[in-house]
Amino acid sequence: RPRVLSGIQPTADSFHLGNYLGALREWVVMQETHDAFYCVVDLHAITMGHDPELLRRRTRLSAAQLLALGIDPERATLFVQSHVPEHTQLSWVMECLTGFGEAGRMTQFKDKSARQEADHVSVGLFTYPVLQAADILIYQADAVPVGEDQRQHLELTRNLAQRFNSRFGETFTVPAAHIPKETAKIFDLQDPTVKMSKSVPAGVVELLEDPKRSVKKIRSAVTDAGREIQYDPENKPGVSNLLVIYSALTGRSIADLEAAYEGKGYGDLKKELGQTVLEFVTPFQEKVRGYLDDPAELDKVLRRGAEHAREVAAGTLKTVYDRIGFLPPA
Ligand code: TYM
Repeated sequence: RPRVLSGIQPTADSFHLGNYLGALREWVVMQETHDAFYCVVDLHAITMGHDPELLRRRTRLSAAQLLALGIDPERATLFVQSHVPEHTQLSWVMECLTGFGEAGRMTQFKDKSARQEADHVSVGLFTYPVLQAADILIYQADAVPVGEDQRQHLELTRNLAQRFNSRFGETFTVPAAHIPKETAKIFDLQDPTVKMSKSVPAGVVELLEDPKRSVKKIRSAVTDAGREIQYDPENKPGVSNLLVIYSALTGRSIADLEAAYEGKGYGDLKKELGQTVLEFVTPFQEKVRGYLDDPAELDKVLRRGAEHAREVAAGTLKTVYDRIGFLPPA
C-alpha cells in the first residue's frame, strides 16, 4: 500500500471548513487506500508564541475532532508529533541541507514574519517548513493531502529529499502533494479574496462553534453584484466560494447547483447552505463531545499511534544517521 502522511496544527479551539474541505476530508478517504499516518503537529504550534495549558487542551481537541471526522485508529496511525522525537532529530539533519536563502523564500514565513519585528520572529518559524519536510520524509510518504497553501512547503520537501538522495544515496521517497481540485482553497466569507483562516473569525465557519453562529455567518457572507447564481471566481468570488462549499458538502456538481438555482436569489442559496452545514456539524459535535468525555481512551489511541509511528520513524532515522556518517553508539 502506498503511504500517506499529513498534519494539522492545534492552534485553534476548532478546525474550520477550509481545513475540512481542503485537507481533512481527503485524510478520511485516503486511509482506505493508503497506509496512513496523521499527526497533530504540536511542535509547529509553538513557533509563534502560545499558552501551555491551551496547547495541551487543543492537542486533545484536535485528536477528538479527527476521530469525529472519521479517522479510524484501526486503519490509520493517529498521533501527536512531539511523541515521536525522531521528527526533530531528522529535522536537524534537513536544516543542514537547506539553504538560508531557500528557507527565506517560503511565502508563509515571509507573510508571518513581515507583521513582526525581527527579534520577535522566532528561528523556529524560519525552520518550520524544514520540520514539516522531516514529518513527511521520516515516514517515506508517497502522498501528502493538503490545501493549496502548503504547495510551496511540499516543493521544498521534494527538493530536500532529492538533495539528500543525490548526496548520500537513495534514502527517501520523493512525496507528491495531493491537493484537491475544487476545494484546494476555501475563501473567507467576509473577504472572498483571502483564504479562510483562523485569524479572521467573522468569515470563518468553525466546526465546533454553535451551529446557529455558522448559519448566521453564512447568511451574512459577502456576495457579489448581480443576482445570478453562477460559478465565476473572477467576477463573483463570494458566490463561487459558497457554491464550492455547497457542492463539496452535498456531492452535487456545481453545474447541477447552478441549474437548480436558476431564477432564485443569493438568499435561497445561503439559507440552504446554512442548513447543510448545520446538518453536517451537529452530529460531528456530538461525536467530539463523546471522545472528550473519555480522555483516557483518547490518550490510549494517541499512545498506540505514537508507538507505531516511532517504529517506522526510528527505522528511517537509523538509515539516515548511517548515510550521513554518524558513528553508531557502541
Ligand atoms: P494547518 O494546520 O494550517 O492546516 C491544516 C490543513 O488545512 C488546509 N487548509 C485549507 N485548505 C483549503 N482552504 C483553506 N482556507 C485552508 N486553510 C487550511 C491546509 O492546507 C492544511 O492541509 N504546515 C501545515 C501543518 C503540517 C503538515 C505537516 C502538513 C505540519 N507538518 C506535514 C502536511 C504534512 C499547516 O500549517 O496546516
